Amino acid sequence: MRTLSSSLPTKRETLLVLILLACFTVLFSDVGIRESLSISFIPGMTLKQHPFDKDLDRAREPWRTHISWTSEGGLWLPQTSIVIHAPGWTIFDNLYVMNGTVFVVTDVPQTIPPRERLTSTGIEIKGDPELVAARFPTDRELRIISPEEAIRLFGSGATLIDGVTWMVNDPPQFIRHYYHWVAELLFGFWRTYSSLDLSIPDSGISALSAPHRIWFVHLDADHWRDPARLNQWVLRSAFPSLTADYSDDWIERAELGRPFLLDRVLLSDRAASMQGKHFDEAGRPLAEACLLPGSFHWWSPIARNAMQFAGLIDEPSISATSPPVITYISRQVRGGRMLVPEHHDHLVEELYALRDRYGYEVNVVTMERLSREEQIKLAARTTIMMGVHGNGMTSLVWMKPSPHTTVMEFYIPGGFTSDYQYTAYALGITYYGWWGNVSFTSDNLPRRAYPEGFHGKQIPIDGTAVAKVCLAQLQA
Ligand SMILES: *[C@@H]1O[C@H](CO)[C@@H](O)[C@H](O)[C@H]1NC(C)=O
Ligand SMILES: *[C@@H]1O[C@H](CO)[C@@H](O)[C@H](O)[C@H]1NC(C)=O
Repeated sequence: MRTLSSSLPTKRETLLVLILLACFTVLFSDVGIRESLSISFIPGMTLKQHPFDKDLDRAREPWRTHISWTSEGGLWLPQTSIVIHAPGWTIFDNLYVMNGTVFVVTDVPQTIPPRERLTSTGIEIKGDPELVAARFPTDRELRIISPEEAIRLFGSGATLIDGVTWMVNDPPQFIRHYYHWVAELLFGFWRTYSSLDLSIPDSGISALSAPHRIWFVHLDADHWRDPARLNQWVLRSAFPSLTADYSDDWIERAELGRPFLLDRVLLSDRAASMQGKHFDEAGRPLAEACLLPGSFHWWSPIARNAMQFAGLIDEPSISATSPPVITYISRQVRGGRMLVPEHHDHLVEELYALRDRYGYEVNVVTMERLSREEQIKLAARTTIMMGVHGNGMTSLVWMKPSPHTTVMEFYIPGGFTSDYQYTAYALGITYYGWWGNVSFTSDNLPRRAYPEGFHGKQIPIDGTAVAKVCLAQLQA
């Protein structure tokens, strides 16, 4: 590559260096470099000052759609860098996409994690060894290439896509369930992205720029909504300006055959997160993202947007003055997993006794009978949420974490799965799992198990024991 510069006259080089020095003085004196662009120069190539890295020039030409790196006298190419990474959850700056393939362009490939921790082929996630192997990414999905190779492949420049792009590489498989959508995909995305602002306060105000767009690589426009229509409610309320591209857009862009350069990309891939060792331990794709640095209030920007959208404004003042709220999400009329009918009745009696004696607000609700707004508003006001294991518990993501905030989940004795426990844990909410009169917390979890009766209608619960723990939590 040295040949690129060695053919140039020395005089000219000297002049360029002088110009550059002058420019750098100007740039660094007024913090002129765009924060999101980590600009790298190809070693050995002649440096050429490019207008793109100067706010001044961007202001003169705000609608800049193309970057060109070749011209007489020098080459300049923004290299890809990893801003933050956990298996399956990666933020890149200057990521390239061409012909349906993602390109990481770097002259330090050793700084890039193994490819299978970044992406996958995006096929359905199944246990058969053959299908596990088929998820491994190939050169078709992602390539890590040198700047020199990038120039050979891309030609003289690339088309720019600005701002923050969330690229979802998952198949439709899990996305159409409210729990997987909000408490796994959106949680993981936001947990990763919010790790760029460690000072997010309780109020949810963050300096982070809103993501501009979401790209579903393997999903068409009809395959991301859930039957309860909560997926879209959450997306539209949390990110009102976000636009979505689907698999046909991805293919269309690929067929253009042009290279695109994206400012900042969060690439999420469930199969890639399963390559991490914390996934093994917790059994949750989110576990990898949860190990990144983060504010205790990392979720509050999303919760705040959803609350405002639901018409619940100023909720901190409400919770400060109103009595604690206990919400039991009943499944007794729903079918599927249910409590022993007498145990349900006894639990309700015990909760109403707490209400009568201590003035707590007690709600016994069937989620499907509430509107989406009502579900979210109720969860946001709830101090203790309880119910039989199931999708209705997803509402816990809207609870306001506090030392009293608690989630209780009822199982057939011996049964356990960490979906809602891990969600509570990620939010800093106390968790109790129940087997009749026996309880366990996040500190002493049983192993995942689906014994007989797990999905049955005879799940026992000791309402007296539950009420006792409620009282202890609220009076703590
Ligand atoms: C573009 O992608 C197709 C597969 O969809 C592949 O066959 C072809 O070789 C690719 N072209 C280039 C230039 O990478
Ligand atoms: C808990 O439940 C089991 C099974 O129903 C029962 O044998 C045991 O006596 C109960 N323990 C207490 C302390 O209530």
